Amino acid sequence: MLRDGEFHVSVWDDGIEVWVTQMGTLMNMNTAFIDRENGVVAIIDPYDATRWTDALEKEGLQPTHLLYTHTHRDHTAGYPGMMKRFPNLEVWGHEEARVPSLLGNVVFKKVDFTNTWDCEPGDSVEWSAGSISLVMTHSPGHAPGHVTMHGHGVYHAGDLLFVRSAGRVDLPGGDPQAQQRSLIRAKEILSGLPADWRLIPGHRYDNFRGEVPDWISLGDALQHNYFLANITMP
Ligand SMILES: [Fe+2]
Repeated sequence: MLRDGEFHVSVWDDGIEVWVTQMGTLMNMNTAFIDRENGVVAIIDPYDATRWTDALEKEGLQPTHLLYTHTHRDHTAGYPGMMKRFPNLEVWGHEEARVPSLLGNVVFKKVDFTNTWDCEPGDSVEWSAGSISLVMTHSPGHAPGHVTMHGHGVYHAGDLLFVRSAGRVDLPGGDPQAQQRSLIRAKEILSGLPADWRLIPGHRYDNFRGEVPDWISLGDALQHNYFLANITMP
């Protein structure tokens, strides 16, 4: 199990490095995809800019892209620090994650996306940089413009799914019906991916027989995640 701020590094079959860490009191999980040959470092929801950049620097790397699953404050905690240090970063999120200012100060942080995805709920788009290629799926419900991202052996669920459970829908901008549809879509996607890929949750919240794993295989998620196992088509 990852300690706070510890990085787990693995190399996928195609040479893309996958870094995973857990940071902060809410145990936010961050994933980064690294293509050393082309100098691409794409980080999902970096929580702590200093710890991320220090770890990358030791390897002679620096971030090039930030990818946001959604714009809740904990997921965007590292945004100001990242932009201060690397003002030319590409910052990606879904168009609908540009949340109205009314809600802005409560649960969301304003992120100035340099680029956005704009697909309908349940639809997917491909995103690539260097040799990194990810599929982004618009999965609203927990938050407007929430996306999941998969590729290189990983399904990064954001706050759509945790190890045992699913994201809450009672915060401003939450939508239980949209969440239900996003979970059904997630089940379809996971069923079509190799069972040994990892599901990285947005948080390491769940208690799994007294242990809290950092991630689980997609096969285990389909069998043991309460929502994935029990959800049925309408
Ligand atoms: Fe969230």
